[in-house]
Amino acid sequence: MNLGIAGKTAIVTGASAGIGRAIAREFAESGVNLVLVARGAERLSATAKDIADRFGVEVLWVAADVGDSGEPDRVVASAVERFGSVDIMVNNAGRACAGGIMAASEADWEEMTVTKLSAMRRFCRAVIPHMRQRHWGRIVSISSIGGIHPNYRLMVSHALSAAINNLTRSIALEVARDGILVNAIAAGAVLTDNWASNMLPAVRKQRPEFVNQSDEAMVKLLGEEMTPVGRFGQPEEIAAIAAFLASDRNGFITGHTMEASGGADRFM
Ligand SMILES: NC(=O)c1ccc[n+]([C@@H]2O[C@H](COP(=O)([O-])OP(=O)(O)OC[C@H]3O[C@@H](n4cnc5c(N)ncnc54)[C@H](OP(=O)(O)O)[C@@H]3O)[C@@H](O)[C@H]2O)c1
Repeated sequence: MNLGIAGKTAIVTGASAGIGRAIAREFAESGVNLVLVARGAERLSATAKDIADRFGVEVLWVAADVGDSGEPDRVVASAVERFGSVDIMVNNAGRACAGGIMAASEADWEEMTVTKLSAMRRFCRAVIPHMRQRHWGRIVSISSIGGIHPNYRLMVSHALSAAINNLTRSIALEVARDGILVNAIAAGAVLTDNWASNMLPAVRKQRPEFVNQSDEAMVKLLGEEMTPVGRFGQPEEIAAIAAFLASDRNGFITGHTMEASGGADRFM
């Protein structure tokens, strides 16, 4: 399918790994010029070089913590300076945060809120005027299936995912007459670095039966247990949905949160 977005410019946050990197590659394959954002410059610059070399699109990388209040404006200004405008915005940066109401700390709540929700709001405020000027824009934000079906073991992530889904619809309704479509993807378990470094250790702590299991064995067992399709998702499967929602072939879906969870209605 020709997505009709060659030559457009997309900002992708959290683009140096996992779902964000897969989305950036998918866009690049359709000829989209990219502004990639993450905190760690080394991994980000390597990702940018790899994508530019493989797909021949222009790639700007900006090392930034999206939770810092001034960074969304700075990133958007850099994008506009380099490419003239921003057509597509993907709010993806973040991590999962294990723990329920008593276990998740004040610091977790603060960090997650600014990274996931405040950043999304600030990026949207920064890009919408540029999209309005051209009467074309697409915004896609990555939330979790837990925003629809919460699990107390991931209380912070899931509360913020619900807020992202709600904010998505609210913004979508406000800009619907401006040619701007705003959607979210509620991801289920998707196999990324975040699982190896963050989630699997947290699951081991919460579920003693996994203590002696290898990462590979846990991924297989959890995939079968959590997901009707019987496995974790792959980042590329989320990227394909993001590309369609962000494309010119999508003209009539807005304000929607698309579940991409292999049929799962619970997380972990
Ligand atoms: N994987 C899943 O099962 C799953 C399920 C539901 C929702 N999600 C959501 O999907 C998004 C991507 O997850 P993932 O699994 O692909 O994670 P990942 O593999 O750990 O990648 C996270 C990316 O975000 C960047 N990042 C993290 N915090 C950031 C910050 N404050 N500012 C800028 N960049 C930041 C990371 O780079 P640096 O560390 O260098 O900044 C990295 O590029 C997250 O928001 C996550 O909550 C994931």
